[in-house]
Amino acid sequence: MLRLICSRVRCRSWKEDRDVNMNRIVVKKELAAKIKLIEFENPDVASKAKPGQFVVIQMGDKGERFPLTIGGIDPDKGVVRVIFNEVGKSSRRLGALGEGEEIGNVAGPLGNPTEIERFGTVLCFGGGVMTGPMAYEVAAFKKAGNRVVTVIGARNKELLILKDEMNALSDKLYISTDDGSEGYKGLDFLRDIFEGEKVDRVIGMSVATATLRTLCELTRPYGVKTIVSLSAIMLDGTGMCGVCRVLVGGQTKFTCVDGPEFDGHLVDWDLLESRKRIYSHEERVSALLDEHVGKDCASRFQQARK
Ligand SMILES: Cc1cc2nc3c(=O)[nH]c(=O)nc-3n(C[C@H](O)[C@H](O)[C@H](O)COP(=O)(O)OP(=O)(O)OC[C@H]3O[C@@H](n4cnc5c(N)ncnc54)[C@H](O)[C@@H]3O)c2cc1C
Ligand code: FES
Repeated sequence: MLRLICSRVRCRSWKEDRDVNMNRIVVKKELAAKIKLIEFENPDVASKAKPGQFVVIQMGDKGERFPLTIGGIDPDKGVVRVIFNEVGKSSRRLGALGEGEEIGNVAGPLGNPTEIERFGTVLCFGGGVMTGPMAYEVAAFKKAGNRVVTVIGARNKELLILKDEMNALSDKLYISTDDGSEGYKGLDFLRDIFEGEKVDRVIGMSVATATLRTLCELTRPYGVKTIVSLSAIMLDGTGMCGVCRVLVGGQTKFTCVDGPEFDGHLVDWDLLESRKRIYSHEERVSALLDEHVGKDCASRFQQARK
């Protein structure tokens, strides 16, 4: 809460007393349909953040809080990068902001950083929009002296993002699409990689729980430690509300303070999947109201209830 309050204050002490608007967007790009990259000023987050951590964003004082993984930082400029998919009310509102406008509230960095060490060969998997923050991790694993094999995936070739950036950062880049429109179709080809070379660590990021689950099932027979970033529903992001509860190795963990990265071979995926769906009705209603309020709102509300 303190951070939320702090992030509203104009920072005048940073970098030669320059007048920095907290959370002002300095770069905005559309990477693919509904996938946006935003860089915003927040010297506090930019000076502390590490790969794997996230921020919680609130659009307006009454908006819901929603987490986005940090996709990179520029501590010298005090800038933080996020890459996000416009899926509902809050992410659409964020995506509607332009350069020069300010994001309401930003709390962070939250969660634990990724364990970055010299493991040997690290396979980094970035699914869909999470290819964005995975680029930050790939750079960090590379800097730590690892050989980095990167796999980026998307539903189809139009939704693949940051191909050139990932190619430049990685020792080897594989592309996979669900429909086979570019690269390999699906993830089964990963078996060939594990058969062909020793992989010392796998790290996976995707908001699609099913994709991470598949990744973990593929790596399990090879005994490769597979760390995955879980996108459980979050509220405060500080361990107080309990909404982000998951079961890992039979123990209750809070994704925001104990994670968000966990050993994927120990995650109770059924529980995670069912908990992610608990607010799906409310989310649909909220998105419809936001889109159509003032229009034929009532009938659409009824439609969403069915
Ligand atoms: C630790 C973490 C990091 C994430 N990083 C990214 C990222 O870098 N880029 C990105 O595009 N998405 C990321 N997500 C998912 C992102 O938070 C949701 O897409 C966002 O909350 C959707 O909100 P909405 O109002 O636009 O959509 P809604 O219509 O409210 O929800 C759409 C879907 O988003 C998820 N969601 C909704 N509210 C929350 C919430 N409070 N917490 C978590 N998930 C929620 C649910 O699966 C839901 O079905 C992350 C989630 C977590 C937990
Ligand atoms: S989001 Fe509230 S405990 Fe994790």
